[in-house]
Amino acid sequence: MAERVVARGPGRVNLIGEHTDYNDGLALPFAIDRGVTVTAEPLPGDRIEAHALDLGEEDAFALEDAEPARGWRAFVRGTVAELRAAGHEVRACRITIEGDLPHGSGLSSSAALEAALCLALIEDDDVDRVELAKLCSRVENDHVGARTGLLDQLAVLCGEEGRALRIDFRDLAMDAVPLELGDWRLVTLGSGASHEHAGGGYNERRAECAAACEALGISSLRDATGAGGLPGPLDRRVRHVLSENARVDAMAEALAAGDLERAGALLDASHASLRDDYEASVPEVERTVAALKDAGAAGARMVGGGFGGSVLALFPPGATPPDGSVSVAPGPAARRL
Ligand code: GLA
Repeated sequence: MAERVVARGPGRVNLIGEHTDYNDGLALPFAIDRGVTVTAEPLPGDRIEAHALDLGEEDAFALEDAEPARGWRAFVRGTVAELRAAGHEVRACRITIEGDLPHGSGLSSSAALEAALCLALIEDDDVDRVELAKLCSRVENDHVGARTGLLDQLAVLCGEEGRALRIDFRDLAMDAVPLELGDWRLVTLGSGASHEHAGGGYNERRAECAAACEALGISSLRDATGAGGLPGPLDRRVRHVLSENARVDAMAEALAAGDLERAGALLDASHASLRDDYEASVPEVERTVAALKDAGAAGARMVGGGFGGSVLALFPPGATPPDGSVSVAPGPAARRL
């Protein structure tokens, strides 16, 4: 790195297809305008200094043998370690992190940070973005301790302005789906309950899906034909994944047909399935969904890993979303500025 590099990683909204990525299923996310900006400035020596401006916290570690760390520091140290392990040259520098995406909001501040770090630190940003997404995912899995899938990283690194990305996680095939909403709009509203993937419900759900596969004798829930015979709660987890995959394609069809009432109904159905079959909701999220529906939303659902975070809602023309709602639309993927 000969000079200062600034990179931006966007957050993401998943229109539909939740908890399907680690089950070789389908999802329809897009990158949003809000995100994380990372600035890297060369330093002499062999250390990285990092400054999280919004938190007012600092870190410093040796490029060669950084100790593991927790919180945001795990993302920075993990990204540097994974880039080096993949053969990228990472040079001594001072990293500054700032953003407008609240941590724990369910809009993937994690993937935004990972992607911005990668693009700021690598020598040449003309890289295979799917490989970079996998590298970012290893940061979460192996350094942060969250057994998350590839949804967020692919959305953030491969998203396209004006379109959602239909991802088939079986083969990572990606198709852009135009998101033409006319006078309708999508908004997110924070539930007030923060979530943490590295702890609690998320990893537990993932383990339940693995247990269901084992009981069914299949390697991924994509191959399941039903939940028949499984004990609870595994039967409900499988039912969610299968019905959610079907809703992704139904959503793509509704969008292609311009049928936004139907798109709203699919958001509601996804939420009900996440709440009842996947049991990934919490009271704050339920209250937020109710507030959005009361304000006239055609559909509303929790977005991201669940157990807190934000709710996504689709509003018809003329309806006014509750205070605090933020409009979201597909923006550009992670990039150098
Ligand atoms: C989080 C994870 C993703 C995905 C979603 C649920 O955002 O990071 O990999 O599993 O939850 O769809």
